[in-house]
Amino acid sequence: MEYLEVGKTSEITEGTMKAYIIKGNNILVFNYNGKYYAIGGKCTHMGGDLSKGKLDGKIVTCPRHGSKFDITTGESVSGPKIGFLKLKTKKEPSYEVKIEGDTIKVNI
Ligand code: FES
Repeated sequence: MEYLEVGKTSEITEGTMKAYIIKGNNILVFNYNGKYYAIGGKCTHMGGDLSKGKLDGKIVTCPRHGSKFDITTGESVSGPKIGFLKLKTKKEPSYEVKIEGDTIKVNI
């Protein structure tokens, strides 16, 4: 594991997220209350693109079947809903983030 540069802080304003591909890893970086967090960008259910989902506070919702993940931990707080079925899904990987000047680095 090493801290790799993913982007600049100016690319992610407060309350937004941005997807990056770093060394083949799909990483989604968030600015939540001025602090930066990073989790996997592909839904653990069926690979939905979380960067196309809805971000509400510290919860990102998958656009495919509505799984919700806590962006500060990667934990799945609510699984997918398909029809009347409520399922479970695994947590997203979460990555440590370090800010150096205006550079965002993620421990991958
Ligand atoms: S792919 Fe994300 S909830 Fe199904």
